[in-house]
Amino acid sequence: MSRLVIVSNRLPITIDQKKGELFYHPSAGGLATGLNSLDTQIEKIWIGWAGKAIEDETEQAEVTADLGKQGLIPLFLSQEDISLYYEGFSNKVIWPHFHYFSQYTTYRDDYWAAYQAVNRKFADLVLQHIQPDDFIWVHDYQLMLLPAMIRAEQPDVSIGFFLHIPFPSYEIFRILPWREDILNGVLGADQIGFHTFDYMRHFLSAVYRIAGYEHQFGKLPVGDRLVNVDVFPMGIDYDKYAFPERLADEEMIRNRIERLKSKGRKLILSIDRLDYTKGIPQRIRAFEKFIAEHQQYRGKVTLMLIVVPSRSNVDQYQELKDEVDTLVGKINGQYRTFGWSPIQYYYRSFPFGELTAMYQAADIAMITPLRDGMNLVAKEFVAGKETLGQGVLILSEMAGAANELTDALIVNPQDVNDMVAALLYALEMPEDEQAERLGKMQEKLQKYTVRHWATTFIKEQMQLYEFKERKKTNLLKKEERNQLVDAYRAAQKKLVLLDYDGTLMGFQPDPSTVVPDAELLELLTKLKDEPGTKLVVISGRDRQTLDQWLGHLGIDMAAEHGVWIKRRGEWKVSSALTNNWKDDIRPVLESLLERTPGSFIEEKEYSLAWHYRTIDKDLGEKRVREFRDVLLYLTANLDLQVLEGNKVVEIKNAGVNKGKATMYWLSKEEYDFQLAIGDDHTDEDTFKALPPEAYTIKVGLAQTAARFKLIGVGNVRQLLRQLTS
Ligand code: UDP
Ligand code: G6P
Repeated sequence: MSRLVIVSNRLPITIDQKKGELFYHPSAGGLATGLNSLDTQIEKIWIGWAGKAIEDETEQAEVTADLGKQGLIPLFLSQEDISLYYEGFSNKVIWPHFHYFSQYTTYRDDYWAAYQAVNRKFADLVLQHIQPDDFIWVHDYQLMLLPAMIRAEQPDVSIGFFLHIPFPSYEIFRILPWREDILNGVLGADQIGFHTFDYMRHFLSAVYRIAGYEHQFGKLPVGDRLVNVDVFPMGIDYDKYAFPERLADEEMIRNRIERLKSKGRKLILSIDRLDYTKGIPQRIRAFEKFIAEHQQYRGKVTLMLIVVPSRSNVDQYQELKDEVDTLVGKINGQYRTFGWSPIQYYYRSFPFGELTAMYQAADIAMITPLRDGMNLVAKEFVAGKETLGQGVLILSEMAGAANELTDALIVNPQDVNDMVAALLYALEMPEDEQAERLGKMQEKLQKYTVRHWATTFIKEQMQLYEFKERKKTNLLKKEERNQLVDAYRAAQKKLVLLDYDGTLMGFQPDPSTVVPDAELLELLTKLKDEPGTKLVVISGRDRQTLDQWLGHLGIDMAAEHGVWIKRRGEWKVSSALTNNWKDDIRPVLESLLERTPGSFIEEKEYSLAWHYRTIDKDLGEKRVREFRDVLLYLTANLDLQVLEGNKVVEIKNAGVNKGKATMYWLSKEEYDFQLAIGDDHTDEDTFKALPPEAYTIKVGLAQTAARFKLIGVGNVRQLLRQLTS
């Protein structure tokens, strides 16, 4: 039976030690609370750190046995691991950096070394516990190297990864010296999830620019695997917060609510971990400005400021604590009266029952982080209003939750006037408007629960595992590959047409460096020597380059997309072609070049090409769009065609293409087996020229006329190797 193996830095249970005795209590934070309330159909085990350095082996054994009863498998971190991996790389590098606090990012190699080492520790523990058909689900920024580490040992196991924090824009991400290793670590997963589309698009952009993988609708071809990247906004256990009395002491909740409301004042609730990303000082200042400017509310409103201790060994958190203490002291000192303190400040965490009483009692929740992956407190507050139907949520537009909770009062947390205005609006909002806004948000939260989130993620991961994706995208499956090989062996006369760049060799920024390697040359030699095989390399490159690189093999070739044909050792122009048009077209390409540094022009005998493989893909495509019309206009009466390839636009005589070249070989001899492989738009002509029963294979995931698809040069070579073995 498959199981779900959750791996996160922190287990949902944290250990404490008092007077030598061990205590367990629930962990705070969105990841632990969210995932813990998840009950799945399949058996679940959870691997993670129990939140405290326990170095004594007897104690470790005790903890392992205690937690094991609940399906939790603890990993033990030493004091040094905690300081370098957890407080260090996780919380002084990735956390600030990914939340756009790059001024707090610490660049230290010892942090990085510890991050690698602890991810390895996690990998070892995971590998000890997993079975081949388990679904592994790795969580969050502390474990970004783990997917690739598990993959290296267990190539076929199904791995998901979810990032609970924002993924920053490429411009921020690129600053990290370890950016490439981090991306490659995550790309070890089969599926990668984010809370919002923005995080996903930032990730894909970083993957493209740093690792060079280009996605198609969120599917990334990585080596011979296909990685699914998607958006899965995390929800909450709605009923737990809507009907807390079912789980907690009802009377206690009622008493709490009564006490909180006894003064008849409006309660504004603020709850977060003590974290600089949460915008706590900004919120307090907005509240101060509000009571300074709106005297009528003095004595009538209270800010309940709940700050949950977090990562207290990290300097910035300590500094923030001082800042908050000072601010609260100052405001209370200035405005307090005998019967009223503007801010009620609690620096501790609250158990579920009390938390939910506060959600119910509060008139307003002010959740205004400067940056937040999702923010579950905002969702819990809205659910907490299920019975009452009254209450207002003020929510920062920088929280992931703002994408869904669009009926909140959305504010910019750095705009103090916006926040003051929102507070006033919230306090004066008519009851029917409150009910309407809450109702709309509750409807969404009820539907998109944490269970829905996890189920969708796992379901998609399972589907990938069952190779459904392969069927959808026509990926050449094992049985089909075997059929192809059998057909090849059985045939007498076989035509094999292979594109060069992107098919036999990977893509490089500088095309002159794509010289065939020894493995490829050996493979092509073997293939051309197979009895009855006619091997043709059919390329867009010029004939000199092809001759220099492959000429000694003595195979047939087509250069410049079929302008030149080499058969029986001799090059010929395929038909009556002209090149006197080049002088008209060259200036257009030159102006394109002038406006686009980094691109370059390639001049072949019968064609001109503008390449943009080294520049930003989006910029290149924009330029192509701009120039396409000019080029089409200029070429219309010159009997020329404009061919769009992979990061290249080529102008050549009309009627020349790889399809025509294919027809040429088909007309020379009869074949009872035909195979064509290519990655580019221009290879589509080859595919179309072949009869329907031919084996046509597109390298990559784009739309194609080919019957099958393969991912990556590695897979192409593997297939060719199979033909020759
Ligand atoms: N929470 C808690 N006790 C507290 C305060 C908060 O258990 O005293 C929980 C809260 O219910 C929520 C989580 O901690 O589920 C905080 O998650 P959120 O996504 O809002 O922020 P994070 O801490 O993950 O940045
Ligand atoms: C955020 C992170 C979690 C983390 C939690 C609490 O929600 O995304 O991965 O567990 O904060 O932080 P802590 O450092 O105490 O685990």
